[in-house]
Amino acid sequence: MLEALKPQPADKILQLMAMFREDPRADKIDLGVGVYKDATGLTPVMRAVKTAEKQLWDTERTKTYTGLAGEPAYLAAMAGLVLGDAQDASRFAAVATPGGTGAIRQALELIRLAAPGAAVWLPDPTWPNHPSIIAYLGMKSATYRYFDGESRAVDFGAMMADLERVAPGDVVLLHGCCHNPTGANLNLTQWAEVAQLLLRKGAVALVDIAYQGFGDGLEEDAAGTRLLARTLPEMLIAASCSKNFGVYRERVGILMALAPNAASQPVTQGTLAYLNRQNYSFPPDHGARLVTMILTDPALKADWMAELEEVRLSMLGLRASLAQELRRLTGSDRFGFIAQHRGMFSRLGATPEQVERLRTEHGIYMVGDSRLNIAGLNAKTVPILAQAIVACGI
Ligand code: LMR
Repeated sequence: MLEALKPQPADKILQLMAMFREDPRADKIDLGVGVYKDATGLTPVMRAVKTAEKQLWDTERTKTYTGLAGEPAYLAAMAGLVLGDAQDASRFAAVATPGGTGAIRQALELIRLAAPGAAVWLPDPTWPNHPSIIAYLGMKSATYRYFDGESRAVDFGAMMADLERVAPGDVVLLHGCCHNPTGANLNLTQWAEVAQLLLRKGAVALVDIAYQGFGDGLEEDAAGTRLLARTLPEMLIAASCSKNFGVYRERVGILMALAPNAASQPVTQGTLAYLNRQNYSFPPDHGARLVTMILTDPALKADWMAELEEVRLSMLGLRASLAQELRRLTGSDRFGFIAQHRGMFSRLGATPEQVERLRTEHGIYMVGDSRLNIAGLNAKTVPILAQAIVACGI
């Protein structure tokens, strides 16, 4: 049986992680996978997470199964974090999932069950795992233009023109904030226009929000998602705690669904729980419990928010100094977009050959589409990267 298996396509981000690990050069720089690193190159356990873990160690009395949908307190805390005052309890259904990828996978399976013929519209470009999972599930997909390679900003006119072709019942995937891989984001006026278009088309929004708090702030980064939730009758939201709580390996995510009316909430909730059971039974609990403790304890929450703000500001500082260094070296403002982008990533706009030269000649690793992880930089490596960008003719 197993000899009949064919090799599967490699994930470019994970492949790059492996190449970086094997590179013996001491001065190599990892700007690949989307993991936050502090100035010393460490991905730290956040202070509030450590405190919560100690408290949990003292107080946890059992490790028996959690609920099939996860703990209600976790679902409620995350609904508050993501949706704020845009919540509608009568239409709300949710399950805890293993990370944001688990939430995306469950969302797609839910769509396949409810509307097997629906196309899932993806921004071009998007996180490579989106099309990969859709293809694996044998679902229909389409793309809409998103990024203007010249200005390195959202090509909103092209996006809206393409979304005019969405059919009723189709699903449109949107990055809630901090677009991965480009770093270019919609403003609130544009979110409102997208919401009206989806409403007019009878389309369902699927929001992937994996970097809340990394862009303009916790509330600001959720504003687009909340606007859609207030506008649309139906919506799915896949949220991840990997980055904003720094609990990557604990696998903490949630899939939220807004049912079109209160009558269809129970079947939505039941189907979400059913999908958990089919795929992995009970969702992981440890990380979700830490997140719940943090979000429901005012002191822990304040400490977490303060540290998250430090992380956000440090990335903004790195953006500003890289843009400034490139302005100094090139005498032009053509890399000014780096300071305008938000979140962990920016797409530099280099060719695959130039990305390859950065890696082979300078030991600088970024994804082949020239996505660079800003958080992989520090004060010492910003000038090194800027010089390498110029040396490679980017
Ligand atoms: C990324 O885009 O680098 C992260 O979301 C990590 C991943 O799983 O790809």
